[in-house]
Amino acid sequence: MKALSSGLLLVFQWLLGVSCVVFALTAQAQPALPVDVLHWWTSASERKAADQLGALLAANGVQWKDAAIPGGGGMAAVKVLKSRVLMGDPPDVAQLIGTTLTDWADVGLVLPLNNVAERQRWSQSLFPTVMDLVTYKDNIIAVPLGIHRINTLLYNRRLFARIGMAPPATWAQFEVAARKLRAIQVRPLAWSDEPWQMATIFESILLAETGPALYADLIVQRKSSAWMDPRVERALNRLRLLRSLSTDTPTERTWTEGARELLEDNVGMMIMGDWAKGELMAWGASPTKDFGCVVVPGTANMHLYSIDTLAMLVSPRQREATQEKMAALVSGANAQLAYNRHKGSVPVRRDVDPLTLDSCARDSWTTFASPRAARVPSLAHRMAADETVKDAVAQTLWRYLTDPGMDASEAQRRLAAVIRAPRSDR
Ligand code: BGC
Repeated sequence: MKALSSGLLLVFQWLLGVSCVVFALTAQAQPALPVDVLHWWTSASERKAADQLGALLAANGVQWKDAAIPGGGGMAAVKVLKSRVLMGDPPDVAQLIGTTLTDWADVGLVLPLNNVAERQRWSQSLFPTVMDLVTYKDNIIAVPLGIHRINTLLYNRRLFARIGMAPPATWAQFEVAARKLRAIQVRPLAWSDEPWQMATIFESILLAETGPALYADLIVQRKSSAWMDPRVERALNRLRLLRSLSTDTPTERTWTEGARELLEDNVGMMIMGDWAKGELMAWGASPTKDFGCVVVPGTANMHLYSIDTLAMLVSPRQREATQEKMAALVSGANAQLAYNRHKGSVPVRRDVDPLTLDSCARDSWTTFASPRAARVPSLAHRMAADETVKDAVAQTLWRYLTDPGMDASEAQRRLAAVIRAPRSDR
């Protein structure tokens, strides 16, 4: 990130210089221009959720100009963002999440939103964990949109009725369900060998095996030595077991394909962030008839979160007033409900009536709000480490799962090596 940072800094200093000259020459009020929004919400539910925001903005004189880059987990979108910035054409708004936000803020790319946050009293209306995430060096650096729960297990209600079981609350029950599903010729679990999907499943299993305290040492403090703990070995063994239950040939399916298999009775369960629930609902599936939603075994009362945020980027186009207006609109209570209902996530606000949420969202929101629950950040979705560390962990897991010669303790050693301690200035 260092080389990128200094390159970006130079590009930005130049861009800002040019923009000041242009602005001084034209010296006129800002016209109501469209805002160019770069994001990776391209599935049916993601599209519907983004459209809610687009419609709200349109009704208030702001035009959402879409720059959607397909690719689950945002791998491609983040690359496009970097290259647009380096080419001197940053979008006005970008789906930047977690620690990536602070990296971009460090190079002066992110417009602080302190005025909007103050006017709208975010410190009172938003969850403290959410405020912490968007606050950096005394600035508010993004608009929070929704909280996803990563430790979500979706199951097919018809298939579970056929095997005569309730959804699993323990790994032992999970294994019984898997055997029974196999006995009726159904694959137990949706699986994809995309590294980010493997990492998404792994962190839920890791949390289940280690509990929130060790999980924090591993993922937040990133203590290399903690990675040699036997509980990590157990999590890695379980990850391999889950893959062996689910797949004969290595395949990189998209997460929407996994959700489709669940809906069409081809697989019994899926471990994925609750955006998959949003997708099932966008296809017309019912959470009370077609599928159900519980937490990953062993993670009751724990919330493994990923919070979606939009950052307003500093650009030569002088959009500050429109960007601030957008930030104020999309963080309002109604916008939050409309967006999250489609997205599968839950509002970042504390002033929500949980009874207005579907049962899966209600459990997510009340757990996130509960002082007795543990909230832990997702590594796979950038809440705990930067892009480089996250990718290195995902690649290591991929190597471990696709190379039968690598055992769990070798994977532990490699993970300990790629997990670097957080930067001291954070
Ligand atoms: C984002 C979600 C998105 C999911 C699948 C996650 O990283 O936070 O908004 O739906 O990736 O692409």
